[in-house]
Amino acid sequence: MGQRVLVTGGAGYIGSHTCLELLNAGHEVVVLDNLANSSEESLRRVQELCGKSITFAQLDLLDAAGVDALFATHQLDAVMHFAGLKAVGESNDIPLHYYSNNITGTLHLLEAMKRHGVWNFIFSSSATVYGVPESVPITEEFALSATNPYGRTKLMIEEILRDVAKAEPQLRAVLLRYFNPIGAHESGRIGEDPQGLPNNLMPFVMQVAVGLRDKVAVFGDDYDTRDGTGVRDYIHVTDLALGHLAALDALPQIHGCVAYNLGTGTGYSVLEMVRAAAQASERTIPHEVVARRAGDVGEVFADASRAARDLGWRATRDLQKMCEDSWRWQSKNPSGYKTQ
Ligand code: NAD
Ligand code: UFG
Repeated sequence: MGQRVLVTGGAGYIGSHTCLELLNAGHEVVVLDNLANSSEESLRRVQELCGKSITFAQLDLLDAAGVDALFATHQLDAVMHFAGLKAVGESNDIPLHYYSNNITGTLHLLEAMKRHGVWNFIFSSSATVYGVPESVPITEEFALSATNPYGRTKLMIEEILRDVAKAEPQLRAVLLRYFNPIGAHESGRIGEDPQGLPNNLMPFVMQVAVGLRDKVAVFGDDYDTRDGTGVRDYIHVTDLALGHLAALDALPQIHGCVAYNLGTGTGYSVLEMVRAAAQASERTIPHEVVARRAGDVGEVFADASRAARDLGWRATRDLQKMCEDSWRWQSKNPSGYKTQ
């Protein structure tokens, strides 16, 4: 049955793709976003793609009264919480802003949920909560730690939710630990729209392919991996979005607070990603090996079997599809949503 879902951060990259899948599945969507790292154009396009409408509140989670009023206005069944700042490097420079935005914002959201009796919660966590993993593949039982303020906000929010679950037995909370989301909706109408210099590999690679930047800097080729470059578990953003729908369906069976890895279980190296992107775009992608990036680890990939078992979810889109869809978005929208 259709549910009314509050999607915080719904105008952003992963949130917008999830809104589309929620609407396609017959759910109603209320988006809360302050547009700090997004534009309303993403939501306009989501509505155009599915022919359904979204209720949009341009609101900051730091505005506790505004958040409460939103809960008073809409009878909500569940909350998907994507809103947050996510740039690792920036979080080292302005940690207070990250703690305030991500932690205080989440507290306001949880307080409003409690006041209005909304107990179904799905949180955007990250593989960053595993810190430097001892081995791969990573299961949900691995030790948790953080290596930067951004990661610490994710870990703290997880801890807050585990505490709230102990105090409030009605709470059903799913922590989705994303590995590396890439790709775009296959229409090429919505995708990732980084502001300024991209922090992540694939948006950078795609900007080189389309001619916006000269070359990819490969951060180190002396890791203990098959070609020496960093290995990550890249997952198609539509698979990730569908993971949220699977979690929403499974919530009635969830007790307390449960974490799930959302990844494919397969790792690819930086050089393999550059090659796959070159093939999908039919462009040459110049690249140059430079020094390691501080804080990076060699190899990260998921054991996603808990999500398969409990949520009945697994990623189905392969690397070629991820690169083809990234390229369709990038080539049709070279300047992101500013390209009309
Ligand atoms: P994004 O920046 O595209 O989306 C986040 C959205 O939240 C943006 O639209 C932004 O405007 C909004 N927002 C931020 N602070 C807000 C506030 N105080 N009030 C209201 N809205 C606010 O990022 P994304 O890639 O879609 O990531 C979504 C979530 O997933 C984030 O919590 C992120 O930390 C997490 N995550 C992302 C990745 C990744 O690689 N993209 C990996 C793991 C986890
Ligand atoms: N890389 C390059 N050149 C670049 C960018 C990245 O060689 O220009 C390499 C990195 O060294 C790494 C791989 O490409 O080996 C992927 O890097 P990303 O920055 O795309 O992703 P990370 O795995 O470093 O970080 C991602 C999210 C973080 C999250 C982390 C752990 O961006 O938010 O996963 O979950 F904290």
